[in-house]
Amino acid sequence: MRIDGRTVLVTGASSGIGASTAKRFAERGATRIVLVARTKEKLDALAAEIGDRARTVALDCGDREAVARAARAIEEEMGVPDIVVNCAGAGHAYFFEQTPPEELERMMAAPFFAAAYVTRAFLPGMLARKSGCVCNVGSPMAYTAWPGAAGYATARWALRGLTEALRSELRGTGVRIVSVVPTTVDSGYFEHNPGFEKTIPGIAKLTGTLEPDQVAKAIVHAVERGKREVFVPFRLRLLVAQSRLFPRVSEYFVARTGLKREPKAVVPDAPAKPGAAP
Ligand SMILES: NC(=O)c1ccc[n+]([C@@H]2O[C@H](COP(=O)([O-])OP(=O)(O)OC[C@H]3O[C@@H](n4cnc5c(N)ncnc54)[C@H](OP(=O)(O)O)[C@@H]3O)[C@@H](O)[C@H]2O)c1
Repeated sequence: MRIDGRTVLVTGASSGIGASTAKRFAERGATRIVLVARTKEKLDALAAEIGDRARTVALDCGDREAVARAARAIEEEMGVPDIVVNCAGAGHAYFFEQTPPEELERMMAAPFFAAAYVTRAFLPGMLARKSGCVCNVGSPMAYTAWPGAAGYATARWALRGLTEALRSELRGTGVRIVSVVPTTVDSGYFEHNPGFEKTIPGIAKLTGTLEPDQVAKAIVHAVERGKREVFVPFRLRLLVAQSRLFPRVSEYFVARTGLKREPKAVVPDAPAKPGAAP
């Protein structure tokens, strides 16, 4: 899909991958860029950088009714977006038995429900127009889960499930589903979700660390070329393929190089600090 002349909506645009992606789409000639996240000040600052083509919508994408209201207002003002990038996401790291239930719900709210509600709101318009592109930003955790972040992994698997279900349902409709899966990114994520970094297993070092702009570039390229599923960097695809062919080998290395639990310290329902090994 060509980018120039298009309306692009990016969720999670106040930081990291989403903010860089919005800027990249602006550079590629998008006519309108709708910046969505909860923090208005950050969105306004990015909009000032992008210029007149940017609109900001301060919104909790995990709030179903708020998304529906905002989507109606966006459609009235500028029509159905041509491209939607679902990048809003958060999630602390806990071993499953230590995850506060409300935290589980928050993790499902963004990225999973956020992507589901936003896509659900604009899909009928895209289908009626017989064109559009939805790009979901996924995580390697949706291919091989690692210890210490069960809620995070579950939410990313849910997002991957939605992506695959939509791909199969939208075949032949003119609406394209694109998935971009980056390895570790030096975004604001680890500052916004303290403790998460220490769950990343040593084996992940094989794929290095990316800057948000490298992912943004891959997202824009994937949308332009209508790619199905892109792993960044490419060697992440090789690791994922390896884990599909030899799951036990991947599980072994993830366990060897990942966060360890000390069974004696497990206390049911005890509140835990995010990312803390019990
Ligand atoms: N960083 C990595 O290593 C990495 C690797 C692979 C995949 N990912 C995934 O990529 C996505 C973006 O991560 P990032 O690295 O760009 O992190 P980030 O810098 O923390 O950005 C997350 C963005 O999501 C927004 N957001 C969170 N909850 C929201 C909600 N309920 N409603 C609306 N916006 C919400 C945040 O804005 P507000 O707080 O202003 O709402 C922010 O703009 C996440 O799903 C993450 O899991 C990250």
